Amino acid sequence: MTEMTQTEEQKALNIDWENLGFTYIKTDYRFISYWKDGKWDDGEMTTDNKVHISEGSPVLHYGQSCFEGMKAYRTKDGSINLFRPDENAKRMINSCQRLLMPEYPVEKFVEAAKAVVKANEKWVPPYNTGSTLYLRPYLMGVGDNIGVSPATEYIFSIFAMPVGPYFKGGLTPTNFIVSDYDRAAPHGTGAAKVGGNYASSLLPGKEAHDRNFSDCIYLDPATHTKIEEVGSANFFGITKDNRFVTPKSPSILPSITKYSLLYLAQHHLGMEVEEGDVFIDKLDGFSEAGACGTAAVISPIGGIQYGDNFHVFNSETEVGPVTRKLYEELTGIQFGDLEAPEGWIV
Ligand code: COI
Repeated sequence: MTEMTQTEEQKALNIDWENLGFTYIKTDYRFISYWKDGKWDDGEMTTDNKVHISEGSPVLHYGQSCFEGMKAYRTKDGSINLFRPDENAKRMINSCQRLLMPEYPVEKFVEAAKAVVKANEKWVPPYNTGSTLYLRPYLMGVGDNIGVSPATEYIFSIFAMPVGPYFKGGLTPTNFIVSDYDRAAPHGTGAAKVGGNYASSLLPGKEAHDRNFSDCIYLDPATHTKIEEVGSANFFGITKDNRFVTPKSPSILPSITKYSLLYLAQHHLGMEVEEGDVFIDKLDGFSEAGACGTAAVISPIGGIQYGDNFHVFNSETEVGPVTRKLYEELTGIQFGDLEAPEGWIV
């Protein structure tokens, strides 16, 4: 097994790279750009991690904000990969359209992401630690406002920090509980990565944690019969006849990781794949299940509590073979150990 190699600069940071959680760490630089008088300025890199905005900012009162999550990966030869950053840029544009915010162009978004990684190079965890540099782009409505109307000024920013697994244990099965709350309305903002979706998930998430579950599972808001999401991650299941199945619904956030897994299952593992209904009372057809997302990567689902019933998939303690294969394929590509489909690595 390859050892972890730290540069002198990294040693001076005194970080336990292999045991990072998913918590805020202030790194050196962030990119910030302002939209005023109908256009974005060129943006700049700053060391200031505080944002100074008007008390009338629509983001503060009406939640006019969206964000993204993406990662930079240190490869074996010390170089750094971004994984499909253009997809994050496009998804942010969709979120902006939903909240009537000005779009930040794809090319400029990717350039800014690269610049933030370069400026914070020493914070990108060494290869073979399992940790990554998490990038958090966000865009929000600021400026003087009070009525319920779109802001007249906006801020786009990307900051970064080294992170470990989102769900404790990483590739270790954990349990989830079906929530009575809805994450999003049937024709609401579920498919956009907007702040409000996550604010409304705090209480259901807390109730799940209080009962010792990793997070909650949201059912479809219209009928409460089908799985939609797993906390802030997407759901996938492997059927007993080896198909990769993931829910399809207009109120699910389209996870870039989920669509990457769908592609890899089909093209690299030769599986049949399907986006369709996953009925909560028909989990017996699945031999494995998982939560996936940029932060979560893949978190195997041990079991799901639904009312009085606790359904165990493969095992509460062992990762299923297909989940493990998908994880190895995805992370192998991200860390540069396996060949990536065209355009996935920047
Ligand atoms: C991500 O997977 O990057 C997300 O945005 C989830 C986040 C809310 C932690």
